[in-house]
Amino acid sequence: MKKPHIPLDQIRAEVEACRKCALCEGRTQIVFGVGNPQARVMIVGEAPGKNEDLQGEPFVGAAGQYLNELLAFAGLKREDIYIANVLKCRPPGNRDPQPEEIQLCTPYLREQTRTIDPEFIVTLGNFSTKFILKTDVGITRLHGKLQRAGKFKVFPIFHPAAAIYDRSKRDVMETDFRTLGALLAETPDPKSIEPAKREPEAEQLAFGGEEA
Ligand code: URA
Repeated sequence: MKKPHIPLDQIRAEVEACRKCALCEGRTQIVFGVGNPQARVMIVGEAPGKNEDLQGEPFVGAAGQYLNELLAFAGLKREDIYIANVLKCRPPGNRDPQPEEIQLCTPYLREQTRTIDPEFIVTLGNFSTKFILKTDVGITRLHGKLQRAGKFKVFPIFHPAAAIYDRSKRDVMETDFRTLGALLAETPDPKSIEPAKREPEAEQLAFGGEEA
C-alpha cells in the first residue's frame, strides 16, 4: 500500500524540533528547502553553508548565485524548481557531512521528495548523488547521464561550488544543464496533463536505499 504524503509544513516542524545529531547545537536555524511544491525538478545539494544557515534558505551564497545562472541553460528559473539539501543543518566550518549525520537526516529528505513527487531529481555533487543513487560511483563518472532511482529520473551534475574553485568545470556544467533542458523538453510535464488523461501513477519506488 502507498504511504500517504506528509504535508511539507509538518515535515518542516519535525526538522525544526530535530536534535538527533550534534549539528543542531551549532545551527542558527534549519535549512529545510524552498521552492515550488509542485515542481517537476527537485534539486538536491549537500548541506547548508554559512549564508544558508543565517538566512534559512538553500543556495543563497556564491554557489547559489552560480546555480541561478546554470538553471537558465535548462530553461528553468528558481521559482520553477524545489531545492533542498541532504543535511538540514550546517556542518561546522563547512566540513563534509558525516555518514551518521546523513543516516539520521535523510528520512526528512525522503519524505520531502515523496510529498513533492518530482519527475526529475537533480543531484549536485558527490554526497547527494551517492545518497540518492545508493552508489559508490563518483560524480565524475555519473554527471550528465540520466539515471533512475525507483520512479524518479535522476540527473547528477557537479556541485556548483566545484566550478567556483575550478573554472574548467564550467563548460561541463553548462552542457549538463543544457542536457537537462533537452530531457525536460522531450516529454510534457506530467502534472500539467489533466488527471483523466494521465497514466495510472507508478508505484512509489524506493530511493536512497529504503523501501518506499
Ligand atoms: N551548498 C549546498 O550544497 N547547499 C547549500 O544550500 C549551499 C551550498
